[in-house]
Amino acid sequence: MNNKIIIAIDGFSSTGKSTIAKQLAKQLGYIYVDTGAMYRAVTLYAMEQGLVTTEVTNINGLIESLPKVRLTFTFNEALGFAEMYLNGRNVEREIRTLEVSNLVSTVAAVPEVRQKLVEEQREMGKEKGIVMDGRDIGTVVFPDAEVKLFMTASAQVRAERRYKELIEKGDDVAFDAVLANIEQRDHIDSTREDSPLVKADDAIEIDNSNLSRAAQFDQILEIVSKFS
Ligand code: DC
Repeated sequence: MNNKIIIAIDGFSSTGKSTIAKQLAKQLGYIYVDTGAMYRAVTLYAMEQGLVTTEVTNINGLIESLPKVRLTFTFNEALGFAEMYLNGRNVEREIRTLEVSNLVSTVAAVPEVRQKLVEEQREMGKEKGIVMDGRDIGTVVFPDAEVKLFMTASAQVRAERRYKELIEKGDDVAFDAVLANIEQRDHIDSTREDSPLVKADDAIEIDNSNLSRAAQFDQILEIVSKFS
């Protein structure tokens, strides 16, 4: 595997995209970029500024504030992956709460937000040797990516995984709220006008509802080895 390539991993929420992307990046010595974390960090910023909350949706205010939003990733040796920083502050934990999850699709539907983040993502992939996961990586960010994967799993299976993760982190959430959030995000993400979540024509679909992590990883490594 000498040829550095771009690996685009798209799919619905909680399909295990980031786990597989991190594992793949580690194996290949590639950079891993979690683009969902970037949309989440912008959402956290909008919440903290009172621009997008459960009561307020000030999209114009958010657009005006965008130049003040600085997103960076810093590799954490102990964790083995890069953490998300918002204006120099580590927000890795805060961006994963259900409050952020409930508002992120609204923020991610704003074309000006997408334009800013897509530009930054393309810059990060300039040198190739990157695994990027999200919703529009194979369709919009890197339409020429050498490998495109599209991950799916049933909403029930995904909610069970997400619920377990949140409970393990100590969050006090109800399973039904997690399932409702996943279904709502699926709907908003795949019906928004700008860059909706769709499978690229040349993406390989992987349904992991009944696939072990190890089996899935082997399958993906085999696909990647044909292209790099
Ligand atoms: O992958 P995630 O669940 O952390 O993503 C959070 C939200 O961000 C998700 O609801 C859709 C949005 N998103 C997007 O619109 N485009 C991306 N490339 C990544 C995420």
